[in-house]
Amino acid sequence: MKLEVVKYDAEILRKRALPVDEISPEIIQLAEDMIETMIDSNGVGLAAPQIGRSLRMFILRDEKEQEDGEMVLCDPEVIINPHLSKPSEEKTSMSEGCLSLPGLSVEVMRPTFIHVRYQNLKGEWIESRFDSFRARVAMHENDHLNGVLIVDRLDRNSRKKVESQLQAIKKRYADGRS
Ligand code: CO
Repeated sequence: MKLEVVKYDAEILRKRALPVDEISPEIIQLAEDMIETMIDSNGVGLAAPQIGRSLRMFILRDEKEQEDGEMVLCDPEVIINPHLSKPSEEKTSMSEGCLSLPGLSVEVMRPTFIHVRYQNLKGEWIESRFDSFRARVAMHENDHLNGVLIVDRLDRNSRKKVESQLQAIKKRYADGRS
């Protein structure tokens, strides 16, 4: 079932989300619905607070290069109770969008790679190094679990430049319509 994506600046997007205690059938269903919602919205990531659930889980789609050089998206991954650590000193700037901030895209500087310890849908703990695109999406989605949005990652000047767009999004979705 496709879910409604909460838009800026709904209160839930500013809250610290709670850990997932148990990978229940409800959580598995939620993950499936989030995947459907992300794919339908042409997104590469979606965090639970964005569909109105204050839970520490997100989904993402990495990208890979085919033999012909074309970039394609991989199968969605479900990341539960993530802990990010050991960010690389090297940082990269890349343009990011967010399904909760329709129409907005901003350059965000982030570490190039990072370690992520998380649970999969079977409840198994996995630790691995996330690189490049996968790292970037994971950091963006993990920010959502802590109430942080891409616009909070901008310096004062860049933030100022997008303020009117932010206000427009806020106004457009203020009455709860999507
Ligand atoms: Co987002």
